[in-house]
Amino acid sequence: MTRVLSGIQPTGQPQLGNYLGALQSWIALQDTADAFYCVVDLHALTVPGEPADLRDSTMAMATLLLAAGLEPDRCTLFVQSHVAAHSQLAWILECTASFGEMRRMTQWKDKSAKGGEEAARLGLLAYPALMAADILLYDTDRVPVGDDQRQHLELTRTLAERFNHRYGQTFKVPDALIPERSRGGRVMDLQVPTRKMSKSSESPQGTIFLFDEPKDIERKIKRAVTDADQGVDAVRYDPTAKPGVSNLLGILGTITGRSPESVAADYTRYGPLKADTADAVVELLVPVQVRYRELASDPGAVAKLLRTGADRANEVASATAARADAAIGLLPPS
Ligand code: AMP
Ligand code: TRP
Repeated sequence: MTRVLSGIQPTGQPQLGNYLGALQSWIALQDTADAFYCVVDLHALTVPGEPADLRDSTMAMATLLLAAGLEPDRCTLFVQSHVAAHSQLAWILECTASFGEMRRMTQWKDKSAKGGEEAARLGLLAYPALMAADILLYDTDRVPVGDDQRQHLELTRTLAERFNHRYGQTFKVPDALIPERSRGGRVMDLQVPTRKMSKSSESPQGTIFLFDEPKDIERKIKRAVTDADQGVDAVRYDPTAKPGVSNLLGILGTITGRSPESVAADYTRYGPLKADTADAVVELLVPVQVRYRELASDPGAVAKLLRTGADRANEVASATAARADAAIGLLPPS
């Protein structure tokens, strides 16, 4: 059976891009694959934050994943820091990667540019090695993620191949599983449709958060930036010339399981397209919000599920970590 693994950071407000780019495939893959999903709390340490917030948001993210449709009987859901092998293998992969290749990662360049390289945490630079560890520990075949993670996936493959070449066959080399950009792989900001929608965006009006009230979702979509075109072909899928309209077509198409081109054929004006997109998003998110409130009322039950998930993950991960330790020449404990 195909093994899949993916992760999501607990910090920031989860948004529609997370759902359409990643969670939607995570949910579907539970039926067809042996699926491992983790809340990557160690990755959150790469930027400043409060300990209490990290604890709360880790629990909240796990609860949200369950509310969105992950079922502990059909997948292994766990918290990254509960499985020690993640940090252990990350070190080995840091010693497999080079400084130069880490420094070339777009995410490092973008994020370190904000506060300056001098202050950026070393973990932010090394982050792709930890992500590679997350993936390689599970002999993963496919990694369902959004398009923004393509570069990190490529690096994971490179590190796996390099390690295998140097020390002998140890890791399975994984493939990415990325939806096409028009099918949720890259949901764009509603106000600046040339920029991806993001948890950490400074553009709350351009971001649909998964916990937004229906009236806020409707308002944000109604005010989404489009263009001044009129006429019968104003509604068409053309991300370069018409990024705002194309983004709405992508969102509505992804939710309804249609291509953006076929959705476009149903409309001539922006108003009705926006109204139907808003309805589809509200219909998608409200049931998740309702289930979230139910699950959040019993945090003990969620914690117990995470415990079971971590035990299951640990069995697989500790064996792979031991294999890597032995391959690289660490003396096995007797
Ligand atoms: P993060 O919020 O960075 O932890 O991302 C969690 C998952 O959501 C990853 O698989 C990302 O690729 C995906 N994702 C985040 N933002 C978007 C977006 N705007 N469009 C599509 N996928 C996204
Ligand atoms: N880097 C990913 C992101 O920012 C999150 C992540 C961490 C991840 N570890 C992973 C995704 C392993 C897939 C597999 O979105």
